[in-house]
Amino acid sequence: MPRTLAITGATGFIGAALLHELAGGGREIRALFRSRPAPAADGALRAGVEWVRGSLDDTQSLERLTRGVEAVIHCAGAVRGATREQFDRVNSEGVARLVRAARQSRPRPRFLLISSLAAREPQLSFYAASKRRGEEALRAAGEGMEWSVLRPPAVYGPGDREMRPLIEAMRRGAAPMLGRPEARFSMIFVADLAAAVRQLVDQPLWEPGPFELHDGHDGGYTWRDVVTTFARIARRPVRPVPVPAILLKTVAAANQALARRFGYAPMLTPGKVRELTHPDWVCADAAFRKATGWVPRVGLEEGLRRTLGSIRVNQK
Ligand SMILES: NC(=O)c1ccc[n+]([C@@H]2O[C@H](COP(=O)([O-])OP(=O)(O)OC[C@H]3O[C@@H](n4cnc5c(N)ncnc54)[C@H](OP(=O)(O)O)[C@@H]3O)[C@@H](O)[C@H]2O)c1
Repeated sequence: MPRTLAITGATGFIGAALLHELAGGGREIRALFRSRPAPAADGALRAGVEWVRGSLDDTQSLERLTRGVEAVIHCAGAVRGATREQFDRVNSEGVARLVRAARQSRPRPRFLLISSLAAREPQLSFYAASKRRGEEALRAAGEGMEWSVLRPPAVYGPGDREMRPLIEAMRRGAAPMLGRPEARFSMIFVADLAAAVRQLVDQPLWEPGPFELHDGHDGGYTWRDVVTTFARIARRPVRPVPVPAILLKTVAAANQALARRFGYAPMLTPGKVRELTHPDWVCADAAFRKATGWVPRVGLEEGLRRTLGSIRVNQK
């Protein structure tokens, strides 16, 4: 079991869950952060974590981050953006820079990349293409290192800012239906993903993958499944509201143009619409389970209950 780890992205949704899962238990963790202060964590968590200020653009900080560690878990990524360059700079060039920094360390650390199921369909969006290029960058720069790639599907849970507007809409009784009704997708609860990473990290040998993984529901869900499950938990009717594709595309195109003009990082873009309306985001987890023995624990109903509970607590 590696005792010293470097983590990127620990100020974000998934990275915070990884930090929570991996900190303690005799591990020493170095975590990268940018301008934001390290998030308030409980005392036990802080005790095992050394925060390193820097960024994926700054090679020196990446060398400080990775020096002497046994494994690097690279979770930082750009999930919003308006241009190919914005995504590539972080999701592809950032991977290459971090791998090269890690390669300087002796003995060479293992390297785990949190990619995305989106990398399976790089033609859909700048994001998806950048995640695929990130995997390729690891393959090219990571020669002579032991590395592995995880491709999670839609990740949800407490702290998820992207899914929150949809949850808020469902709490008010309306669920926007963005894709085709028959479209299917896999999901994973964030704590289960974090446990999967721990399980992989603790394996004596890593296989490269890329590994897909999900919450144990083979064949995935339709959006209607999610809405029905949510309505059961919230104990209120939730009405599906179909959003016409033309409206979604028009808003996304306008948002992308405005973002390029005013320099902000948008979530809804034409590429995101192509991802949202893609009919098949179902994945398989047999290879990952075989390689690690990992078993998911949180199904959709329990996961949505916990997510909803965290929103209610934060609003009190
Ligand atoms: N959420 C999902 O459903 C999902 C599904 C599959 C894969 N993923 C992948 O999982 C990873 C984390 O996603 P998330 O949902 O947790 O996103 P998030 O909440 O936006 O977190 C992104 C993290 O990356 C950091 N980061 C971004 N650009 C950076 C840079 N140039 N230098 C250093 N750090 C940088 C952010 O730091 P700041 O706090 O400073 O901004 C933050 O800690 C991403 O690689 C994403 O592609 C996500």
